[in-house]
Amino acid sequence: MVVVYGFEGAAAATGTAQRLPAETRALLDELQTSGELTGKSYECTLVHRPAGLAARKLLVVGAGKKEKSGDAHLRRLVGTAVRYVRGRGIHDLAWVLDSGEVPPGAVQAIAEGAIAGDYDADCYRTERESERRIDRLELATGGGSSDEAAVAALERGRVIAEAQNFSRDLVNEPSNRMTPTSLALRAQQMAGHFGLDCRVLGPEEIRDLKMGAFWAVAQGSDEPAKLIVLNYAHPDAAHAELIGLVGKGITFDTGGISIKPSENMHEMKTDMAGGAMMLGVMQAIAQLKPVARVVALVPATENMPSGKAYKPGDVITSLSGKTIEILNTDAEGRLVLADALTYARQLGCSVLIDAATLTGAIMIALGNITTGVFGWSKEWVERVLGSAAAVGEKMWHMPVDEDYRDLYKSSIADLANTGGRYGGAITAAMFVGEFAGDTPWVHLDIAGTRWSNDEKPYLAKGPTGAGVRTLVHLLSNLPA
Ligand code: BES
Ligand code: MN
Ligand code: ZN
Repeated sequence: MVVVYGFEGAAAATGTAQRLPAETRALLDELQTSGELTGKSYECTLVHRPAGLAARKLLVVGAGKKEKSGDAHLRRLVGTAVRYVRGRGIHDLAWVLDSGEVPPGAVQAIAEGAIAGDYDADCYRTERESERRIDRLELATGGGSSDEAAVAALERGRVIAEAQNFSRDLVNEPSNRMTPTSLALRAQQMAGHFGLDCRVLGPEEIRDLKMGAFWAVAQGSDEPAKLIVLNYAHPDAAHAELIGLVGKGITFDTGGISIKPSENMHEMKTDMAGGAMMLGVMQAIAQLKPVARVVALVPATENMPSGKAYKPGDVITSLSGKTIEILNTDAEGRLVLADALTYARQLGCSVLIDAATLTGAIMIALGNITTGVFGWSKEWVERVLGSAAAVGEKMWHMPVDEDYRDLYKSSIADLANTGGRYGGAITAAMFVGEFAGDTPWVHLDIAGTRWSNDEKPYLAKGPTGAGVRTLVHLLSNLPA
């Protein structure tokens, strides 16, 4: 199966369709005249026994308006082709490149688009889509030869997309199968497989270390809490910054005593998506081996109501020593992050990046499309945004400002754990930032982007693996 793309209005004469033999293009022209081929975004037109080609089938993918170009667009076109053909019993495809050249960036995007596109969250169906998955993807250069750089780019794309899919698998798991204990086991398995150092602290250690904020959330659950710690160090990076990646690992968020409404509560199995992101990032860098030093921390627990649960009005002492008045037990994410960030600083981290499904408010602001990026450090916020743009993930800079501080003041403790409805994503982010101290820190609120509510032509419905590609890019492009 040969795959080409063409733009709207001139699908037979643009994109990679223009690289087809004249006879084939004439056939596509006919289809265009009859209205079967328009080139509109993600339209798929399958041609059997295409004149002028030896291949038995040709797929033309619509590339939309001509202004659309670049690797992010390419990634989606490939994903679209993959999802279209495998639903029709086709297991291999040959993607035609733009020219005789084999640019590494494009090659990487093609591999990523194909592997992320070929994913479905269907492991609990007895009749799985997987029987229909892609076995083979070829890149057709039409003369040009691939070189070492292209082969490396292909491998890079594979590693990154598989890490993204690993993260999606973790997020997809329901909470009866993804407890803090099983999340820690999955992290240990991954670490063992890819040669990372992994430590898991249990309830006694969490308590003995005086992680009072993490513990407050964990105390209501019968499932033992775990703090997952992963280390990566490149031998040439002994003096590099120690980057701390902290991911929220709430394996189920009922809201606790401030219990959530039952409608949509099942979605709270995804409340460990920040942690899953960091595990995916670690899986990728363990293989790509950038010159960097990284420690990933995932505070994992359930947030449950019970006779042992923490309650509104409680005052707790965090690992940092700061006291926190609990106004709402459903604002639990910022509590587990607070202690994990403090612990990361104790471990010597000089840069902190956290990711969390932290607030419903970020979904009101940015929907399911864009991740909110917060932080006081212009330099590191810019770095994250730059990496996001480079890998085709949508992220947007949200404000932090001293003037919001008053909103989460407590009348009896150092801080309150909620800042009210208005600006909820900002006050949540800033609360977390209080525990980063003067260490450069960036916060990603992925409550919206962790999950896709509908199937896209290029991506399955369900967990997205948001953020993995961005942070892998960031860690692969650190300042020397
Ligand atoms: N995990 C939720 C945020 C969330 C909501 C993630 C929807 C994904 C989808 C978080 O723990 C939470 O409950 N936040 C509260 C905070 C509030 C009580 C201050 C919220 O956003 O309503
Ligand atoms: Mn909550
Ligand atoms: Zn939560």
